[in-house]
Amino acid sequence: MIERDEGIVPQAVADGAGEEERQVEVGLRPLTLSDFVGQDIIKRNLSILLEAAKGRGEPTEHVLLYGNPGLGKTTLAHIIAREMGSNFKVTSGPVLEKVGDLASILSNLKKGDVLFIDEIHRLNRTIEEVLYGAMEDFVLDIIVGKGPTARTLRLNLEPFTVIGATTRLSLLSAPLRDRFGAVFHLNYYSEEDLQAIVRRSASILHVDIDDPSVALLSTRCRFTPRIANRLLRRVRDVAQIRGSGAVDESLALEALAMLEIDPLGLDAVDRRLLVTIIELFHGGPVGLSTLAASSSEEIETIENVHEPFLLRIGMLERTPRGRVATPRAFEHIGLRPS
Ligand SMILES: Nc1ncnc2c1ncn2[C@@H]1O[C@H](COP(=O)(O)OP(=O)(O)OP(=O)(O)O)[C@@H](O)[C@H]1O
Ligand SMILES: [Mg+2]
Repeated sequence: MIERDEGIVPQAVADGAGEEERQVEVGLRPLTLSDFVGQDIIKRNLSILLEAAKGRGEPTEHVLLYGNPGLGKTTLAHIIAREMGSNFKVTSGPVLEKVGDLASILSNLKKGDVLFIDEIHRLNRTIEEVLYGAMEDFVLDIIVGKGPTARTLRLNLEPFTVIGATTRLSLLSAPLRDRFGAVFHLNYYSEEDLQAIVRRSASILHVDIDDPSVALLSTRCRFTPRIANRLLRRVRDVAQIRGSGAVDESLALEALAMLEIDPLGLDAVDRRLLVTIIELFHGGPVGLSTLAASSSEEIETIENVHEPFLLRIGMLERTPRGRVATPRAFEHIGLRPS
């Protein structure tokens, strides 16, 4: 066993964005495709899609963006609308509770508008069915009344573009997925791209940061732009309080240590998950819900935030019987397989 203070539950650095952060993110968001760093294949395909639609004078085909949190789905959706010169309307899966909610949004869309549906995997089935009908034919079939007097009301809609975003492609029904003319998977970013993102954000936020610190942040941000920007802001805070406001490597290291982010970018929760698997379950396999209960984390947070990163850096494996800590994880945590 390793010593742990059970009284303190370490905070994740890698969680999704809170409301306050979303406000800051708006200012850091690239506004054009050329400003959007990395994801070159997606950018190339998107610009063809957009050019072709513009050339035909038609709305862009429906686009589905999927990938882990903080990789730029919302950012890209805004960019698409902007490049098309379209209005951008926003909703999300959990917000749309009744068919009427969706119907009123759809019937208010004007020709060429973009409707962004965030967390589209969380739409309920009834709404999903209405939506994919509307996406296919730009008509809305609504059933009014019940029983023998029920009848279908058909509303014609203006041609519009749905941009769906999801962290969980597998939870989308096949018919809904099929209505998207283009599906793009946002991948983790390269270190080089992350350095460019940190530099760009530092210049927007007027942070004076040296090259070694840029390199350091780009290796500890779990390949994710949102986390890179988050680390940059925390490092900036420390610089402001401690010194001249400029960020150098020793200051950046100090700030990362305070955040409990280790050299591979694992935060306290990542390590706690690995320690749980290793100590309580002898390295696994352990099922997701058991792991969640034993580590006091939400299943969804483990699945969306921690697991993809730990898989990517080879600390975790998924087997049919559950999650397994790899030898690399044992080594990193400083324990031996039993
Ligand atoms: N390619 C990029 N270039 C520059 N900055 C980026 C890029 N991708 C993301 N960012 C930055 O990261 C932040 C988070 O991106 P965004 O909100 O688009 O992620 P998301 O995929 O929608 O996340 P979530 O799944 O949590 O909604 C943005 O504010 C933006 O500043
Ligand atoms: Mg988003």
